[in-house]
Amino acid sequence: MSLDVLLGLQWGDEGKGKIVDAITNSYDIIARFQGGPNAGHTIKFDEHKHVLHTIPSGIFNKEAINVIGNGVVIDPVIFKNEIEGLKQFDFDMRDKLLISNKAHVILPTHKIIDATSEASKGKKKIGSTLKGIGPTYMDKTGRNGIRIGDLNSGNWIEKYNTLKRKHLTLLSNFNLKVNLDLDELEDDFFKSIEVLKRFNFIDSEEYLNNSLNNGKQILAEGAQGSLLDIDFGTYPFVTSCNTTVSGACSGLGVAPNKIKNVIGIFKAYTTRVGSGPFPTELVNEIGEHIRKTGNEYGATTGRDRRCGWLDLIALKYSIIINGVTELNMMKTDVLSGFKSLEVCTSYNINGIETQTLPFDLNSENIEPIFKTFKGWSEDISKVTKEEDLPIELLEYVSFIEEFVKVPIKLISVGPDRSETIYRIK
Ligand code: IMP
Repeated sequence: MSLDVLLGLQWGDEGKGKIVDAITNSYDIIARFQGGPNAGHTIKFDEHKHVLHTIPSGIFNKEAINVIGNGVVIDPVIFKNEIEGLKQFDFDMRDKLLISNKAHVILPTHKIIDATSEASKGKKKIGSTLKGIGPTYMDKTGRNGIRIGDLNSGNWIEKYNTLKRKHLTLLSNFNLKVNLDLDELEDDFFKSIEVLKRFNFIDSEEYLNNSLNNGKQILAEGAQGSLLDIDFGTYPFVTSCNTTVSGACSGLGVAPNKIKNVIGIFKAYTTRVGSGPFPTELVNEIGEHIRKTGNEYGATTGRDRRCGWLDLIALKYSIIINGVTELNMMKTDVLSGFKSLEVCTSYNINGIETQTLPFDLNSENIEPIFKTFKGWSEDISKVTKEEDLPIELLEYVSFIEEFVKVPIKLISVGPDRSETIYRIK
């Protein structure tokens, strides 16, 4: 029995969906442990391209069971759309997808509060995906939330109406109105609840622990990235839950001593959507080139992603917080064609050089200090063996491994499942 955790080490969009999909054959169960439809996990195979928001990325594996854990927040409307989008694949989703009774439900008024609260912040906005994530987690910790298991009880509508009244009172305190129609949202919401209720709601912590005891292999799938973690990310420009490894324990009900491998995913460069500090950001033609070549536009919101060089200080921090045991480097092909590449190896903060991520990245005047690498010009997207990679790229890989002291076991050279180099280390 064992449970591995797979998570992102930067500001999200590292390519977790591709990796989960590529490695699911080794697992019996894939379990999503936090976040909600703010995530967009893109999977490409056999000419198909599919973006998942709530459903775990193991759904395309014929054998695996997929679990949406208690740490996730679910928007019934987006869930219904995802289910409809998957109908073309002709597998019985109800057998393959189990949902925790304890996951929380995103309500129409959560989305309105999210949009209103962001709009009221003006220039200080977080850059939220506006999916209602923050307000739903606030009601969870405020002990007001509606959970998936409640939907099967007779009195959940009463609970819903009480919470809706509370939300409307809160909204009346804002001096602005967003362009969202509550009646329309509710109409969609209640129709979608009926689709959601056709699925099996389970006590997923019991199911997962029993499965472990019966020798099953589980992969815990994270969403967003470690630098968006509510405790350890670039607060307040973060999401509303623990995206780091502890989130797998609290979001699935599995104990830390059940975890074997922690697989950390990072891009060969860095991206970020939304506001907040980003020391190695390239606001120039190089950043623009990376955005275009890497197709760096949000899978959930379509927004331009901000692009920059790899930041090894931030990466090392995430590796330590998560106890990462192996690394997967994504989108390496995007860096082909550069004469030289830069990698941040320390920060200059007010004249002092440091390799520590400061308490408040936002208020510091951080100047990244870079090490320069020779680039490579070959197209590497068809390379299948490590020894066929350009020497300059192998030097880049070795330097990162040496710096962070964790092996890179997989190098992704394209979006398709097949464009993956597995390294034997
Ligand atoms: P929220 O979680 O939608 O409230 O967004 C909070 C911050 O996290 C914003 O900067 C978002 O752009 C960012 N964020 C949320 N989900 C993702 C994701 O899946 N990938 C990348 N950024 C995300």
